[in-house]
Amino acid sequence: VDLDRLAIIEAHQLTAKLYNYLLNNTQHGKIAKDYLLDRGLREKQIDHFMIGYAPDQWDTLNRFLTARNFDPVLMEKGGLLSAKNDGSGHVDRFRSRIMFPIWDRDGKVIAFGGRVIGDGGPKYLNSPETMLFTKSRVFYNLHHARPAIRKSKQVVLFEGYMDVIKSWSAGVNNGVATMGTALTEEHCAMLGRQAEEIILCYDGDDAGQAAALKSIPMLEKAKLRVRVSILPKGKDPDEYIEEYGPDTFLREAIDGAATTTKFKLIYSRKNHILLTEEGRKNYLLEAAGIVADLDSAIEREVYLQELSREFNFPLDVLKQDCQAKVLELQ
Ligand code: CTP
Ligand code: MN
Ligand code: MN
Ligand code: MN
Ligand code: MN
Repeated sequence: VDLDRLAIIEAHQLTAKLYNYLLNNTQHGKIAKDYLLDRGLREKQIDHFMIGYAPDQWDTLNRFLTARNFDPVLMEKGGLLSAKNDGSGHVDRFRSRIMFPIWDRDGKVIAFGGRVIGDGGPKYLNSPETMLFTKSRVFYNLHHARPAIRKSKQVVLFEGYMDVIKSWSAGVNNGVATMGTALTEEHCAMLGRQAEEIILCYDGDDAGQAAALKSIPMLEKAKLRVRVSILPKGKDPDEYIEEYGPDTFLREAIDGAATTTKFKLIYSRKNHILLTEEGRKNYLLEAAGIVADLDSAIEREVYLQELSREFNFPLDVLKQDCQAKVLELQ
């Protein structure tokens, strides 16, 4: 079994190199590369993240691996090849996709994420769970980011590949991603061991913001101080950087990431129509409950003052309500 592991790791390393070569040196690869350049990536990032291209053929990788004496059945187990339906051999799992190698924490390639070029679906096809790749335990880019995470005691968590890569060039060297899967307790524990603070930089769409809200208590349980980036409606970090540039991203999304209380206060606005008196009242009731979660009276006061100013609502009334909720919580 150990030899199987080694063979699968070696095959992944060679496959990453092959795909990267095909991206940089073939006519078909050029379409994929132009797509990446068009999205704002530079050669440097393509090299650094070893991005590649799996051609629109059934047997490029199959032949490549077979010629190097890798057992196709083992390669199927490792997630690189698929068995043909009629049992007559194997084909490449990834075809006509931009390939992002996924590394383990030591820098060994253990899986791939493959993106279609342009629109069309499914947008990403990832390696299946294998003896090397367990999604609930892997972060994209952790091997690159580990030194910076340990040094700064801070980690930035993204949703996807492009977010990590774009922000890396913006200077965020402590960024990792969960690759679309929900954050697990195991993920949180891993981050909690290496960092003190986490910035959640999820997509600015409903799904991303809901995922951030759900992640907060899990991360706090792992003893992490949490802050949340609030991106303009619908934008993800990659699009934000493309549109506003790296400096604005660092200032607004990273340095300016909101406290969890601030994030929750903004998030709960979605549920209320603030144009009506009824909506404002219900929002303030919910807001008082969010603020009541804070342990410190000083902190509670700061948020209540803000709400009081914004809604032109008496501070002492907000305080009364909040205090009642604090007592309920005790
Ligand atoms: N993802 C996936 N399978 C999908 C869609 C998404 O595995 N069908 C994962 C990928 O790791 C992706 C992440 O979830 O990077 C976030 O998804 P999404 O926001 O939809 O994609 P982006 O990362 O924004 O992709 P792109 O910028 O290339 O459009
Ligand atoms: Mn998303
Ligand atoms: Mn996204
Ligand atoms: Mn994106
Ligand atoms: Mn997108």
